[in-house]
Amino acid sequence: MLAWAVWQPQAADPPSSELKAAQKLDVNKCARCHRRYQPSAYTQADWELWMDKMGRKSKLRPEQTDLLKRYPELLRREEGSLPAQPRKKGKQ
Ligand code: HEC
Repeated sequence: MLAWAVWQPQAADPPSSELKAAQKLDVNKCARCHRRYQPSAYTQADWELWMDKMGRKSKLRPEQTDLLKRYPELLRREEGSLPAQPRKKGKQ
């Protein structure tokens, strides 16, 4: 779990705060060039290739790129593990 270890500041937080961090990067860094792409539309391998490329375009730190590589997994985990929490539609 190297990525987890590298992501020190958030290491003690619940997974949902990692998801929030990923979403924040997506909105702040990625959406200034194009719409927000759905990670679920890609295979994990394809997504990771794109993140290597897009991480460079966005000048992300390596740990931020790693976090976004796990974005699909974080989204799936959130959807599966928090059935009681209503998902907000629209603005985030
Ligand atoms: C400097 C502008 C720029 C930034 C910042 C940027 N992108 Fe991109 N992105 C592009 C361009 C241009 C393409 C078209 C493909 C290419 O680069 O060849 C693209 C393509 C993509 C694709 C593939 C789309 C397809 O055709 O399926 C994904 C996914 C993606 N970006 C995600 C991201 C994410 C996530 C971030 C934030 C980490 C990001 N991008 C940041 C410019 C940018």
